[in-house]
Amino acid sequence: MILVTGATGNVGRNIVGQLLDAGEKVRAVTRDPGNSGMAADVEVLPGDLTRPESLTDVLRGIDRVFLFPVFGALDGFLDVARTAGVEHVVLMSSSAVEFPEPGWIGQAHLDCEASVAKSGIPHTFVRAGLFMRNDLGWAAQIADGGVVRSAYGTAAAAPVDERDIAAVATQSLRTARAGSVHTLTGPESLTQIERVRIIAETLGRPVRFEELSREEALKHLVGQMPEEAASFLLDQLASWQGTTAEVLPTIEQVTGRPAHTYREWVGHHAADFEAAASR
Ligand SMILES: NC(=O)c1ccc[n+]([C@@H]2O[C@H](COP(=O)([O-])OP(=O)(O)OC[C@H]3O[C@@H](n4cnc5c(N)ncnc54)[C@H](OP(=O)(O)O)[C@@H]3O)[C@@H](O)[C@H]2O)c1
Repeated sequence: MILVTGATGNVGRNIVGQLLDAGEKVRAVTRDPGNSGMAADVEVLPGDLTRPESLTDVLRGIDRVFLFPVFGALDGFLDVARTAGVEHVVLMSSSAVEFPEPGWIGQAHLDCEASVAKSGIPHTFVRAGLFMRNDLGWAAQIADGGVVRSAYGTAAAAPVDERDIAAVATQSLRTARAGSVHTLTGPESLTQIERVRIIAETLGRPVRFEELSREEALKHLVGQMPEEAASFLLDQLASWQGTTAEVLPTIEQVTGRPAHTYREWVGHHAADFEAAASR
């Protein structure tokens, strides 16, 4: 049986669905089973990765795990997993670990990878690049006047669809070929301004980008994430201005089908953008 941690999250929920479609037996762990919204054929158990004593039942009878990187909490989880006989851990990591200066986010994921490596359990690392999903953070601004305000509009990235991250993780869990590192990007390099244009075209409504200063953007982001993470994100955007982001073939190589485009992602989430508009 496969355990999915982070199963109620953007990536984990897709992994659960894809594993079920493939006929796998799935157990999900969450801190709030009453609100998990999982399909009836998923076994949902309560557990908190920061409290290893809550995980013995969760890991009983499990041979493979998708591991969500709860920072600073993985050693305890991995001890219980090793004792339970887990044979393969697929860790969600970040491509920031490969940056010349990994920064706060990269270092936190490097620490998670080190915990998994140290556990001695065979493992695979899925190092995701910037999520397309982050751009749903613009939905309220799009609904409320059609203006996306951010810093460094010409910063380019190759953002990745959460369905594709899940597909690589699912394939890794099912083929049980431990020892791989999969670094993922989306299929095209796009600036923030270009992404806003695609959102406008796909939703069929006027949306424009308005440049903020770094200070203004930092103030806005600090409400949504720790200040170190917000600073790191802005440093990254600053360094990506006027560049073309690297596009990697990993998703197609692992899954046998092309990665979703940004336009496809926006179309898939049109209702989520519209929901912000109707609030
Ligand atoms: N955003 C990006 O651009 C980016 C890029 C590269 C990598 N990443 C990585 O991807 C992660 C976000 O993935 P996502 O969007 O799928 O996640 P998400 O939607 O933010 O969901 C977080 C998940 O983690 C679970 N969780 C959190 N703390 C937990 C704990 N103490 N014990 C058990 N479960 C816990 C939550 O479960 P419950 O609440 O149900 O317990 C939930 O399922 C980031 O944190 C980062 O590590 C992100």
